[in-house]
Amino acid sequence: VSVSLPHTGRQVHLIARPQGEPRAADFAMVEAPVVSPGPGQIVVRNEWMSVDPYMRRRMDDVDSYIEPFKLDEAMSGAAVGTVIASESADFPVGMWVRHFLGWREYATLDVDDPALRVIDVDAVPAQRYLSVLGMTGLTAYVGLTVAAPLQEGDTVFISGAAGAVGHVAGRVARALGAATVIGSAGGPEKVWKVVEEFGYDAAIDYKAGALDSQLEAAAPDGIDVYFDNVGGPHLEAAIGRMRVHGRVALCGAISQYNSSELPPGPRNLLLATNKRLSFRGFIVTDHLDLYGDYVSQAIRWITDGSLHVEETVVDGIENAPAALMDMLQGVNTGKMLVRLGRG
Ligand SMILES: NC(=O)c1ccc[n+]([C@@H]2O[C@H](COP(=O)([O-])OP(=O)(O)OC[C@H]3O[C@@H](n4cnc5c(N)ncnc54)[C@H](OP(=O)(O)O)[C@@H]3O)[C@@H](O)[C@H]2O)c1
Repeated sequence: VSVSLPHTGRQVHLIARPQGEPRAADFAMVEAPVVSPGPGQIVVRNEWMSVDPYMRRRMDDVDSYIEPFKLDEAMSGAAVGTVIASESADFPVGMWVRHFLGWREYATLDVDDPALRVIDVDAVPAQRYLSVLGMTGLTAYVGLTVAAPLQEGDTVFISGAAGAVGHVAGRVARALGAATVIGSAGGPEKVWKVVEEFGYDAAIDYKAGALDSQLEAAAPDGIDVYFDNVGGPHLEAAIGRMRVHGRVALCGAISQYNSSELPPGPRNLLLATNKRLSFRGFIVTDHLDLYGDYVSQAIRWITDGSLHVEETVVDGIENAPAALMDMLQGVNTGKMLVRLGRG
Protein backbone atom coordinates (compact mmCIF):
# COMPACT_ATOMS: atom_id res chain seq x y z
CA VAL A 1 0.00 0.00 0.00
CA SER A 2 1.24 3.48 -0.73
CA VAL A 3 -0.20 6.76 0.39
CA SER A 4 0.78 10.13 -0.90
CA LEU A 5 4.09 10.95 0.68
CA PRO A 6 5.54 14.35 1.45
CA HIS A 7 8.16 15.25 -1.16
CA THR A 8 10.80 16.22 1.35
CA GLY A 9 11.63 15.92 5.04
CA ARG A 10 14.27 17.42 7.28
CA GLN A 11 17.31 15.51 8.48
CA VAL A 12 20.37 16.40 10.54
CA HIS A 13 23.82 15.96 9.02
CA LEU A 14 27.16 16.07 10.78
CA ILE A 15 29.22 18.54 8.77
CA ALA A 16 32.33 18.90 10.95
CA ARG A 17 34.02 16.71 13.55
CA PRO A 18 34.04 18.52 16.89
CA GLN A 19 37.19 19.25 18.84
CA GLY A 20 36.09 18.95 22.45
CA GLU A 21 32.49 19.96 23.00
CA PRO A 22 30.26 19.79 19.90
CA ARG A 23 28.95 23.13 18.62
CA ALA A 24 25.84 24.03 16.63
CA ALA A 25 28.07 24.71 13.61
CA ASP A 26 29.06 21.01 13.51
CA PHE A 27 25.49 20.12 12.42
CA ALA A 28 23.33 21.13 9.45
CA MET A 29 19.59 20.81 8.90
CA VAL A 30 19.05 19.49 5.39
CA GLU A 31 15.80 19.20 3.43
CA ALA A 32 16.02 15.86 1.60
CA PRO A 33 13.66 13.93 -0.70
CA VAL A 34 11.47 11.29 0.95
CA VAL A 35 12.30 8.04 -0.85
CA SER A 36 9.23 6.03 -1.93
CA PRO A 37 9.25 2.43 -0.74
CA GLY A 38 10.35 -0.29 -3.15
CA PRO A 39 9.29 -3.93 -2.74
CA GLY A 40 9.89 -5.04 0.87
CA GLN A 41 10.29 -1.47 2.07
CA ILE A 42 8.36 0.93 4.30
CA VAL A 43 8.43 4.63 5.00
CA VAL A 44 8.25 5.61 8.66
CA ARG A 45 7.35 9.03 9.96
CA ASN A 46 9.54 9.36 13.01
CA GLU A 47 7.67 10.64 16.05
CA TRP A 48 10.46 10.46 18.65
CA MET A 49 14.23 10.07 18.47
CA SER A 50 16.90 9.37 21.03
CA VAL A 51 20.03 11.36 21.75
CA ASP A 52 22.66 9.33 23.60
CA PRO A 53 26.17 9.82 24.97
CA TYR A 54 27.70 7.27 22.56
CA MET A 55 26.73 9.59 19.69
CA ARG A 56 29.46 11.97 20.83
CA ARG A 57 32.03 9.23 20.23
CA ARG A 58 30.55 8.56 16.77
CA MET A 59 31.34 12.16 15.83
CA ASP A 60 35.05 11.34 16.07
CA ASP A 61 36.77 9.45 13.29
CA VAL A 62 37.94 6.58 15.51
CA ASP A 63 37.69 2.80 15.47
CA SER A 64 35.03 1.64 17.85
CA TYR A 65 32.30 -0.96 18.27
CA ILE A 66 30.07 1.23 16.11
CA GLU A 67 31.15 3.10 13.01
CA PRO A 68 31.69 6.87 13.09
CA PHE A 69 29.02 9.15 11.60
CA LYS A 70 29.94 10.04 8.02
CA LEU A 71 30.30 13.71 7.25
CA ASP A 72 27.56 15.31 5.14
CA GLU A 73 25.16 12.42 5.65
CA ALA A 74 22.16 12.02 7.92
CA MET A 75 23.17 10.92 11.40
CA SER A 76 21.51 7.78 12.80
CA GLY A 77 20.30 6.39 16.10
CA ALA A 78 17.22 4.95 17.74
CA ALA A 79 13.81 6.33 16.76
CA VAL A 80 10.16 5.30 16.94
CA GLY A 81 7.43 6.22 14.50
CA THR A 82 4.51 5.08 12.40
CA VAL A 83 4.47 3.42 9.01
CA ILE A 84 3.00 5.85 6.46
CA ALA A 85 3.71 3.91 3.27
CA SER A 86 4.32 0.21 2.91
CA GLU A 87 5.27 -2.35 0.30
CA SER A 88 5.16 -5.15 2.89
CA ALA A 89 2.06 -6.95 4.17
CA ASP A 90 3.78 -7.47 7.54
CA PHE A 91 4.17 -3.74 8.19
CA PRO A 92 0.85 -2.08 7.36
CA VAL A 93 0.31 1.67 7.35
CA GLY A 94 -0.34 2.88 10.90
CA MET A 95 1.89 0.30 12.61
CA TRP A 96 4.32 1.62 15.24
CA VAL A 97 7.95 0.56 14.90
CA ARG A 98 11.35 1.19 16.44
CA HIS A 99 14.42 1.33 14.21
CA PHE A 100 17.83 2.97 13.91
CA LEU A 101 17.27 5.73 11.32
CA GLY A 102 16.71 8.63 13.68
CA TRP A 103 17.89 12.21 13.09
CA ARG A 104 15.40 12.53 10.20
CA GLU A 105 11.68 13.12 9.93
CA TYR A 106 11.05 10.31 7.44
CA ALA A 107 12.96 7.06 7.11
CA THR A 108 12.70 4.57 4.25
CA LEU A 109 13.66 1.13 5.54
CA ASP A 110 13.95 -2.46 4.34
CA VAL A 111 11.63 -4.61 6.41
CA ASP A 112 14.48 -7.08 6.94
CA ASP A 113 16.59 -4.35 8.57
CA PRO A 114 17.81 -6.09 11.75
CA ALA A 115 17.12 -2.97 13.84
CA LEU A 116 13.43 -2.80 12.84
CA ARG A 117 10.98 -3.96 15.55
CA VAL A 118 7.23 -3.65 15.92
CA ILE A 119 6.34 -1.96 19.23
CA ASP A 120 3.15 -2.31 21.25
CA VAL A 121 1.93 1.14 22.18
CA ASP A 122 -1.38 0.06 23.70
CA ALA A 123 -0.12 -0.19 27.25
CA VAL A 124 2.84 2.21 27.22
CA PRO A 125 3.61 5.38 25.25
CA ALA A 126 5.83 4.84 22.22
CA GLN A 127 8.74 6.92 23.51
CA ARG A 128 9.29 4.48 26.40
CA TYR A 129 10.79 2.15 23.78
CA LEU A 130 13.65 4.64 23.51
CA SER A 131 14.12 4.90 27.26
CA VAL A 132 13.19 2.43 29.94
CA LEU A 133 11.84 -0.17 27.49
CA GLY A 134 14.70 0.34 25.05
CA MET A 135 18.46 -0.07 25.11
CA THR A 136 18.74 2.39 28.00
CA GLY A 137 16.76 0.21 30.38
CA LEU A 138 18.40 -2.97 29.13
CA THR A 139 21.81 -1.39 29.79
CA ALA A 140 20.93 -0.98 33.46
CA TYR A 141 19.83 -4.61 33.62
CA VAL A 142 22.85 -6.06 31.79
CA GLY A 143 25.22 -4.03 33.97
CA LEU A 144 23.83 -5.47 37.18
CA THR A 145 23.15 -9.04 36.02
CA VAL A 146 26.00 -9.80 33.59
CA ALA A 147 28.83 -7.29 33.99
CA ALA A 148 28.75 -6.91 37.78
CA PRO A 149 26.28 -9.54 38.99
CA LEU A 150 24.56 -8.18 42.04
CA GLN A 151 24.06 -10.45 45.02
CA GLU A 152 21.39 -10.16 47.64
CA GLY A 153 22.45 -7.80 50.42
CA ASP A 154 25.05 -5.91 48.35
CA THR A 155 25.82 -2.23 48.71
CA VAL A 156 25.67 -0.71 45.23
CA PHE A 157 27.02 2.59 43.96
CA ILE A 158 25.74 3.98 40.63
CA SER A 159 27.17 7.11 39.04
CA GLY A 160 25.10 9.17 36.61
CA ALA A 161 22.20 8.20 38.86
CA ALA A 162 19.80 10.90 37.65
CA GLY A 163 20.35 10.04 33.99
CA ALA A 164 18.64 7.67 31.59
CA VAL A 165 20.50 4.49 32.52
CA GLY A 166 21.14 5.53 36.12
CA HIS A 167 17.58 6.15 37.23
CA VAL A 168 16.55 2.72 35.97
CA ALA A 169 19.66 1.05 37.43
CA GLY A 170 18.63 2.11 40.93
CA ARG A 171 15.30 0.33 40.51
CA VAL A 172 16.95 -2.76 38.99
CA ALA A 173 19.45 -2.92 41.87
CA ARG A 174 16.59 -2.88 44.34
CA ALA A 175 14.76 -5.64 42.47
CA LEU A 176 17.89 -7.80 42.49
CA GLY A 177 18.10 -7.55 46.27
CA ALA A 178 20.58 -4.75 46.96
CA ALA A 179 20.59 -3.76 50.62
CA THR A 180 21.76 -0.20 49.98
CA VAL A 181 21.69 1.76 46.72
CA ILE A 182 23.79 4.92 46.53
CA GLY A 183 23.87 7.28 43.54
CA SER A 184 25.82 10.29 42.39
CA ALA A 185 24.64 13.17 40.23
CA GLY A 186 25.45 16.80 39.54
CA GLY A 187 23.59 19.40 41.59
CA PRO A 188 21.14 19.49 44.50
CA GLU A 189 17.96 19.10 42.42
CA LYS A 190 19.19 15.94 40.78
CA VAL A 191 20.40 14.55 44.09
CA TRP A 192 16.97 15.24 45.58
CA LYS A 193 15.25 13.38 42.72
CA VAL A 194 17.61 10.43 42.94
CA VAL A 195 16.51 9.78 46.53
CA GLU A 196 12.93 11.03 46.58
CA GLU A 197 11.74 9.90 43.16
CA PHE A 198 14.14 7.26 41.86
CA GLY A 199 14.20 5.30 45.12
CA TYR A 200 17.90 5.42 45.99
CA ASP A 201 18.83 5.27 49.68
CA ALA A 202 21.37 8.09 49.42
CA ALA A 203 22.91 10.34 46.82
CA ILE A 204 26.10 12.34 46.42
CA ASP A 205 26.40 15.67 44.62
CA TYR A 206 29.74 15.20 42.86
CA LYS A 207 29.88 18.92 42.06
CA ALA A 208 29.56 19.91 45.71
CA GLY A 209 32.69 18.43 47.27
CA ALA A 210 35.28 15.69 47.28
CA LEU A 211 33.91 12.38 46.03
CA ASP A 212 36.10 10.27 48.32
CA SER A 213 34.82 11.75 51.55
CA GLN A 214 31.20 11.92 50.38
CA LEU A 215 31.33 8.29 49.29
CA GLU A 216 32.92 7.28 52.57
CA ALA A 217 30.11 8.96 54.46
CA ALA A 218 27.43 7.32 52.30
CA ALA A 219 29.03 3.85 52.32
CA PRO A 220 31.04 3.58 55.55
CA ASP A 221 31.36 -0.21 55.18
CA GLY A 222 32.34 -0.09 51.51
CA ILE A 223 30.76 -0.97 48.16
CA ASP A 224 30.19 -4.41 46.66
CA VAL A 225 29.09 -3.31 43.18
CA TYR A 226 29.97 -0.12 41.29
CA PHE A 227 28.00 0.71 38.10
CA ASP A 228 30.25 3.18 36.30
CA ASN A 229 28.59 5.60 33.90
CA VAL A 230 31.15 8.35 34.36
CA GLY A 231 34.76 7.11 34.62
CA GLY A 232 37.63 9.39 35.70
CA PRO A 233 37.49 10.58 39.30
CA HIS A 234 34.29 8.62 39.97
CA LEU A 235 36.00 5.35 39.08
CA GLU A 236 38.99 6.16 41.23
CA ALA A 237 36.82 7.08 44.21
CA ALA A 238 34.79 3.89 43.80
CA ILE A 239 37.91 1.70 43.64
CA GLY A 240 38.98 3.28 46.90
CA ARG A 241 35.70 2.26 48.58
CA MET A 242 35.30 -1.22 47.05
CA ARG A 243 35.12 -4.17 49.40
CA VAL A 244 37.06 -7.39 48.84
CA HIS A 245 35.68 -9.33 45.82
CA GLY A 246 33.82 -6.23 44.65
CA ARG A 247 32.54 -6.05 41.07
CA VAL A 248 32.64 -3.07 38.71
CA ALA A 249 30.43 -2.74 35.62
CA LEU A 250 32.20 -0.49 33.12
CA CYS A 251 29.20 0.94 31.31
CA GLY A 252 30.56 4.28 30.11
CA ALA A 253 32.88 7.15 30.90
CA ILE A 254 30.92 10.26 30.03
CA SER A 255 33.39 12.49 31.88
CA GLN A 256 35.84 11.78 29.03
CA TYR A 257 33.68 11.88 25.89
CA ASN A 258 34.49 15.49 25.04
CA SER A 259 38.20 15.20 25.88
CA SER A 260 40.77 15.07 23.16
CA GLU A 261 43.48 14.31 25.75
CA LEU A 262 42.61 11.28 27.85
CA PRO A 263 43.32 11.66 31.58
CA PRO A 264 45.62 9.18 33.36
CA GLY A 265 43.82 6.05 34.51
CA PRO A 266 42.78 5.40 38.09
CA ARG A 267 45.91 5.97 40.17
CA ASN A 268 44.82 3.42 42.73
CA LEU A 269 44.41 0.43 40.42
CA LEU A 270 46.79 -1.56 42.62
CA LEU A 271 43.86 -1.83 45.02
CA ALA A 272 42.14 -4.02 42.43
CA THR A 273 44.73 -6.69 43.15
CA ASN A 274 44.70 -6.27 46.89
CA LYS A 275 40.91 -6.40 47.02
CA ARG A 276 40.50 -9.10 44.29
CA LEU A 277 38.17 -6.85 42.29
CA SER A 278 36.65 -7.69 38.93
CA PHE A 279 35.97 -5.13 36.23
CA ARG A 280 33.90 -5.91 33.18
CA GLY A 281 33.10 -3.66 30.27
CA PHE A 282 29.98 -4.40 28.24
CA ILE A 283 27.97 -3.20 25.25
CA VAL A 284 24.24 -3.60 25.59
CA THR A 285 23.66 -4.74 22.02
CA ASP A 286 25.69 -7.91 22.73
CA HIS A 287 22.95 -8.93 25.17
CA LEU A 288 19.72 -8.56 23.23
CA ASP A 289 18.82 -12.11 24.29
CA LEU A 290 18.02 -10.65 27.73
CA TYR A 291 15.60 -8.06 26.36
CA GLY A 292 12.47 -10.21 26.79
CA ASP A 293 13.32 -11.03 30.44
CA TYR A 294 14.07 -7.44 31.23
CA VAL A 295 11.08 -5.85 29.49
CA SER A 296 8.50 -8.10 31.12
CA GLN A 297 9.85 -7.05 34.53
CA ALA A 298 10.12 -3.39 33.57
CA ILE A 299 6.52 -3.26 32.33
CA ARG A 300 5.45 -4.67 35.71
CA TRP A 301 7.44 -1.99 37.56
CA ILE A 302 5.96 0.75 35.40
CA THR A 303 2.45 -0.60 35.90
CA ASP A 304 2.74 -1.01 39.67
CA GLY A 305 4.36 2.41 40.01
CA SER A 306 7.60 1.12 41.54
CA LEU A 307 9.68 2.52 38.67
CA HIS A 308 9.48 6.27 38.29
CA VAL A 309 10.13 6.81 34.58
CA GLU A 310 11.75 10.15 33.94
CA GLU A 311 12.14 11.77 30.52
CA THR A 312 13.32 15.20 29.44
CA VAL A 313 11.61 16.14 26.18
CA VAL A 314 12.81 18.62 23.57
CA ASP A 315 10.49 19.49 20.69
CA GLY A 316 11.41 19.63 17.01
CA ILE A 317 14.13 18.07 14.90
CA GLU A 318 15.71 21.50 14.59
CA ASN A 319 16.48 21.28 18.32
CA ALA A 320 17.95 17.77 18.20
CA PRO A 321 21.60 18.93 18.05
CA ALA A 322 21.00 21.19 21.07
CA ALA A 323 19.34 18.28 22.87
CA LEU A 324 22.44 16.16 22.33
CA MET A 325 24.77 18.94 23.45
CA ASP A 326 22.60 19.71 26.48
CA MET A 327 22.49 16.05 27.50
CA LEU A 328 26.29 15.91 27.47
CA GLN A 329 26.25 18.92 29.82
CA GLY A 330 23.72 17.34 32.18
CA VAL A 331 20.66 19.46 31.34
CA ASN A 332 18.52 16.29 31.32
CA THR A 333 17.13 14.20 34.11
CA GLY A 334 16.17 10.71 33.03
CA LYS A 335 16.20 10.02 29.31
CA MET A 336 16.76 12.90 26.89
CA LEU A 337 14.31 12.56 24.00
CA VAL A 338 13.38 14.62 20.97
CA ARG A 339 9.72 14.72 19.92
CA LEU A 340 9.44 15.12 16.16
CA GLY A 341 5.79 14.56 15.53
CA ARG A 342 2.64 14.64 17.55
CA GLY A 343 3.98 12.01 19.96
N1 LIG B 1 27.79 0.10 27.57
C1 LIG B 1 26.63 0.32 26.94
O1 LIG B 1 26.13 -0.50 26.18
C2 LIG B 1 25.92 1.61 27.20
C3 LIG B 1 24.59 1.82 26.76
C4 LIG B 1 23.95 3.04 27.07
C5 LIG B 1 24.64 4.01 27.77
N2 LIG B 1 25.93 3.78 28.15
C6 LIG B 1 26.68 4.75 28.93
O2 LIG B 1 25.97 5.02 30.11
C7 LIG B 1 26.25 6.33 30.55
C8 LIG B 1 24.94 7.08 30.78
O3 LIG B 1 24.25 7.17 29.55
P1 LIG B 1 22.77 7.73 29.51
O4 LIG B 1 22.22 7.47 28.18
O5 LIG B 1 22.05 7.23 30.70
O6 LIG B 1 23.00 9.29 29.63
P2 LIG B 1 22.47 10.26 30.78
O7 LIG B 1 23.05 9.79 32.08
O8 LIG B 1 21.00 10.38 30.69
O9 LIG B 1 23.06 11.66 30.35
C9 LIG B 1 24.37 11.97 30.53
C10 LIG B 1 24.63 12.52 31.95
O10 LIG B 1 26.02 12.50 32.19
C11 LIG B 1 26.31 13.39 33.23
N3 LIG B 1 27.62 14.01 33.03
C12 LIG B 1 28.04 14.78 32.00
N4 LIG B 1 29.34 15.13 32.19
C13 LIG B 1 29.73 14.55 33.36
C14 LIG B 1 30.95 14.55 34.11
N5 LIG B 1 32.04 15.18 33.68
N6 LIG B 1 30.99 13.86 35.28
C15 LIG B 1 29.89 13.21 35.73
N7 LIG B 1 28.71 13.18 35.06
C16 LIG B 1 28.64 13.83 33.90
C17 LIG B 1 25.19 14.43 33.23
O11 LIG B 1 24.50 14.34 34.48
P3 LIG B 1 24.96 15.22 35.76
O12 LIG B 1 24.12 16.45 35.71
O13 LIG B 1 24.68 14.32 36.90
O14 LIG B 1 26.40 15.53 35.58
C18 LIG B 1 24.26 13.97 32.12
O15 LIG B 1 22.89 14.14 32.42
C19 LIG B 1 27.14 6.96 29.49
O16 LIG B 1 28.49 6.82 29.89
C20 LIG B 1 26.86 6.10 28.27
O17 LIG B 1 27.92 6.12 27.35
C21 LIG B 1 26.57 2.61 27.87
